[in-house]
Amino acid sequence: MTAAEHLFGSLLPDIVTSPPGGVSRDLTMRLREVESRNITYVDSGWPIFWKEASGSNVRDVDDNIYIDLSGAFGVALIGHAHPKVVHALQGQGQELIHGMGDIHPPVRKVELIERLCGIVPWVDAQAVLTTTGSEAVEVALKTAQIATGNPGIVAFRGGYHGLTMGALAVTDRAHFRSYFEDQLYKGVTFTPFPECNDVSQVTTDEALGLLRAAFQQGAPNGDPIGAVIVEPVQGRAGVRIPPDGFMAALSDLAIEEGVMVIADEIFTGLGRCGSMLASEQLGLRPDIVCLGKILGGGLPLSACLSSRSVLSAWPENDGEAIHTNTFLGHPLSCATALAVLDVLEHLGVPECARALGLQMLSELQESLKGTEKVLEVRGSGLMIGIELVTADGSPWEGGAARVAEAAFGQGLILLPAGEHGNVVELTPSAFLSENQVAHSVAVLSSIIQTIH
Ligand SMILES: Cc1ncc(COP(=O)(O)O)c(C=O)c1O
Repeated sequence: MTAAEHLFGSLLPDIVTSPPGGVSRDLTMRLREVESRNITYVDSGWPIFWKEASGSNVRDVDDNIYIDLSGAFGVALIGHAHPKVVHALQGQGQELIHGMGDIHPPVRKVELIERLCGIVPWVDAQAVLTTTGSEAVEVALKTAQIATGNPGIVAFRGGYHGLTMGALAVTDRAHFRSYFEDQLYKGVTFTPFPECNDVSQVTTDEALGLLRAAFQQGAPNGDPIGAVIVEPVQGRAGVRIPPDGFMAALSDLAIEEGVMVIADEIFTGLGRCGSMLASEQLGLRPDIVCLGKILGGGLPLSACLSSRSVLSAWPENDGEAIHTNTFLGHPLSCATALAVLDVLEHLGVPECARALGLQMLSELQESLKGTEKVLEVRGSGLMIGIELVTADGSPWEGGAARVAEAAFGQGLILLPAGEHGNVVELTPSAFLSENQVAHSVAVLSSIIQTIH
């Protein structure tokens, strides 16, 4: 073991009290009194309260140490509290904590937008900074409406784009939509997302045929289609990877039909899938790109980017922006995002994610080979999914949560994904140590092999 592997951040798990320990349980009871009951999931085994996080380690309030294989919702690709992020945060905190984003902006906002414009595929790129992924999606939808004049949207089955009302309208999961269905925009057509595996419900040709029909027929409420929104790899749906050529064909079709392509790269972008944008690898040629998660280095920040010609469809600001918010271009988030971009670029993080992703994928595939309940282990960079099925081959409803709970007891934090909760999702840091990788693969494989 090297000296660095003794540091908090690169440690193996150390569970001193079976989680959740007493301090976490007390905090849970206090929280239950004051927080709306739908927010924090509470069960005999959940939650733990985080006290400290660095690199790939999390310490809870009962002093248990975990390896975070979730990247805390995919955010921590460069690890928690990266020193450059902490440094930027402290420096900015001494100078300016809050500005007036669209009125008297902070310096960091200009610097960050200039940098972001360099990572998208347009020479004349421009951006709107936003705060959450959902907000970036809503700016993208507004942009498409304003640029095409057509409000209708095509979205994909299984797609996740956020839960605020505009974003929820294009998110396809009954669990999130059912209580609010009546309040959602009715001009959305959902069409199947093909996958590059044997269990794909549609072939590429069928999916493209249905997409063309959706573009031509217009939305269910009669609105003409202005945009198609797509995740290059569907994340929360369970790491669903499209077949080769599908994204390129989607782009061709959208051009033919005069429909704008919105790439929701909130989960896949900024190195997660092994390149700065997953679109690049998959041949998707978006008109609009949404970024978030990794961007702020742990602070809330997202962005919607497009070319100047598209964004110029928005009217000139006459004194009142028609889309803004109190914290737009927040100086602390912009400063940490600049540090994140430095780390991504200088340390070649997308390439590290690609290499480590391939390594973890092949090790997991090897160790889970022949395990009956594993339908497939798949991945794109450091977004890896292990799909679980029952003996008759149907999705193991809630199986991934069972695995996550068992893994948690052994000091691994990971999340279930997929409509049936049957995909174990791994979105760790690209800087996991060798020991952490070996340990995680061994523990996780053994749990999956033995759990019922
Ligand atoms: C692809 C995608 N889009 C949008 C969102 C919504 O982002 P947020 O939760 O920051 O609103 C998410 C969140 O997981 C996501 O995965």
